Amino acid sequence: MSIQQDKAIRLEERRATALKGGGEKRIEAQHAKGKMTARERLALLLDEGSFEEFDTFVQHRCTHFGMEASHPDGDGVVTGTGTIGGRPVAVFAQDFTVNGGSLSKTMSEKICKVMDQAMKTGIPVIGLNDSGGARIQEGIDALAGYAEIFERNILASGVIPQISGIFGPCAGGAVYSPALTDFTLMVRGTSHMFLTGPAVVKSVTGEEVDQETLGGADVHATRSGVAHFAAENEQEGIGTLRQLLSFLPQNNRSEAPARPSEDPAGRACPELDGLIPDAANQAYDMYSVIGSIVDEGEFFEVHRDFAPNIIVGFAHLGGRSVGIVANQPAKMAGVLDINASRKAARFVRFCDAFNIPLVTLVDVPGFLCGTQQEYGAIISNGAKLLYAYGEATVPKVTVTLRKSYGGAHIVMSCKQLRGDINYAWPSAEIAVMGAKGAVGILKGVEEKDYEDLFCNPYQAAQQGYIEDVILPRDTRWRVIRALAYLDGKRLDLPPKKHDNLPL
Ligand code: HXC
Repeated sequence: MSIQQDKAIRLEERRATALKGGGEKRIEAQHAKGKMTARERLALLLDEGSFEEFDTFVQHRCTHFGMEASHPDGDGVVTGTGTIGGRPVAVFAQDFTVNGGSLSKTMSEKICKVMDQAMKTGIPVIGLNDSGGARIQEGIDALAGYAEIFERNILASGVIPQISGIFGPCAGGAVYSPALTDFTLMVRGTSHMFLTGPAVVKSVTGEEVDQETLGGADVHATRSGVAHFAAENEQEGIGTLRQLLSFLPQNNRSEAPARPSEDPAGRACPELDGLIPDAANQAYDMYSVIGSIVDEGEFFEVHRDFAPNIIVGFAHLGGRSVGIVANQPAKMAGVLDINASRKAARFVRFCDAFNIPLVTLVDVPGFLCGTQQEYGAIISNGAKLLYAYGEATVPKVTVTLRKSYGGAHIVMSCKQLRGDINYAWPSAEIAVMGAKGAVGILKGVEEKDYEDLFCNPYQAAQQGYIEDVILPRDTRWRVIRALAYLDGKRLDLPPKKHDNLPL
């Protein structure tokens, strides 16, 4: 055997060892917990054979507390590039089999390298987290590593899509990287996010709480809103990440992706004509409206279980990727509260940053009132949504189905917030407030008279505040036609260092 052949064999042997991460035993332990390894996750996430690994042989430099005895190749993270649906992405996956995926300085350097590459080339970054947090043996170096990652998360925000999958523990300051990214997915039962774990919580506050109740997928998908998606298992979660990517452009300079659609752009939706109930306080399901108008009836929902009184998500219309924001009359009558405002504002800002047109479906009775909402700053939180719509320069098409009252009317992408095309159904009621409230204030005014005068779309139409009153059945093709016309829309904001939205 020649020297060069021998070197080639040694390379393959060394690579084979590196690919095993922390070794067979730890891989088995990972599987026993119902978890995949970092490499197994990447193999599922990326198109087959597309993974190009970086820094396979990087090793940690720690010399404390026995760390000097072991230097596994690759350290606790697998990084590189690959494709999803044929489009390039940068990826990192923390490897729990190596020191519990805990973050060393060299791990952070590996992660920062792929993030820098992604920024240079304008491709999304997907991070799969499964880590015990800062590598305790490295002390301050590990913290510096986190800060390097956070700074890159911040600089990449609004430039390239950043997506976090939480597939194991993600605790302490480590949670702030996912929190800075655009979308976070968690897996039920095996992933947890919290700033301080159950033991510390007990010692500080005396509260007894388990990991799942403190920071499980359901908690963050329904209560805190930290997670946009909660998956049943890792396979489903990775499928969701792939699907999400299909709606997003590669970066802020690319157009939203389009795909050919079999669904005729001119298709009428006669089922919508009888949808609005005669009684104003009767609910209907906004999902059926979305399902009727979008291509093939396919809607990819974001934040499904958080603030269900507003619906946000992606769909295609005439083949174009669009962001849909819709009040949901079937939940709390579609009222805007703190969480609904936060949820929709973040989604609107994402779509605007990444050139994804916004289609807004309005049926909103107003903002939720009461001390709980006022003390929780519904004023500042409602202003976030107002700000997001008013700031957005992407095409904005709005259809008012029924109620559109008061401040909520303004916030939900009205004409004066630089709405491009605003339509209303004949059932629309665009007014300062509902008839009952109005006659309670205007003494001597009959409810019927108020309704006849104001609870319709024609006051707004007469002023040019909406472009047209359209039949429900025509909604799909009218919106598609509006979006086609708006394709070349270009609108700038005044020059400024950055804005100061009411955080
Ligand atoms: C070094 C760590 C580690 C860490 C785990 N390990 N976390 N090594 N630094 N942070 C090691 C363990 O010692 C163990 O090594 C191996 O990884 C697997 O861990 P286990 O505890 O056996 O696994 P499990 O029972 O599944 O428990 C997982 C865990 C637990 C819940 C994550 O390990 C844990 O509580 N770790 C510490 C979490 C933590 O407090 N991290 C620091 C937070 S502060 P051996 O060789 O024994 O198998 C922080 C600050 C970030 O992160 C600030 C950013 C700004």
